[in-house]
Amino acid sequence: MKVAIIMGSTSDLEVMSGAFGILDDFGIGYEKRVISAHRTPELMFEYTKALKDRGFGVVIAGAGGAAHLAGVAAGLTTLPVIAVPMATKNLGGLDSLLSMVQMPTGIPVATVAIGGAKNAAILAAEILALGDKAISDKLDAYRKAQAEKIRNTVI
Ligand code: RP5
Repeated sequence: MKVAIIMGSTSDLEVMSGAFGILDDFGIGYEKRVISAHRTPELMFEYTKALKDRGFGVVIAGAGGAAHLAGVAAGLTTLPVIAVPMATKNLGGLDSLLSMVQMPTGIPVATVAIGGAKNAAILAAEILALGDKAISDKLDAYRKAQAEKIRNTVI
């Protein structure tokens, strides 16, 4: 299954591109789109509603400010939604974080750290690995490589 990566603006692209390389490494297909819950609400509805039938398994949504992109996506699909809060100029990303992490009961969103696009991709891989041994094996190797790096670090 593929991962849908949506972001509220092209200004989010640099941070969100952190997810692309991880998904490439795990051999997971993905589609990336700029879609805004408040600037393009109709597109948001159409795009998210169609994801399941188009073979997507996970949504990663990155946005900044009080954009609520991930929460709206989660309201439109039962696919797991992972939120990436963007750092912002005025509030350092606390606004983005709170707009995503405090979802009311019933519509969950898994929020990663501010700017945590890479972790969002790893979490997406972990979800897809539940039904895909090849991804699961790659995740094991990824963890092992991280541990080896620490073990072999001499300071
Ligand atoms: C949000 O507003 C976007 O996700 C972005 O992080 C923020 C600012 O957007 P731009 O004004 O840079 O387009 O919708």
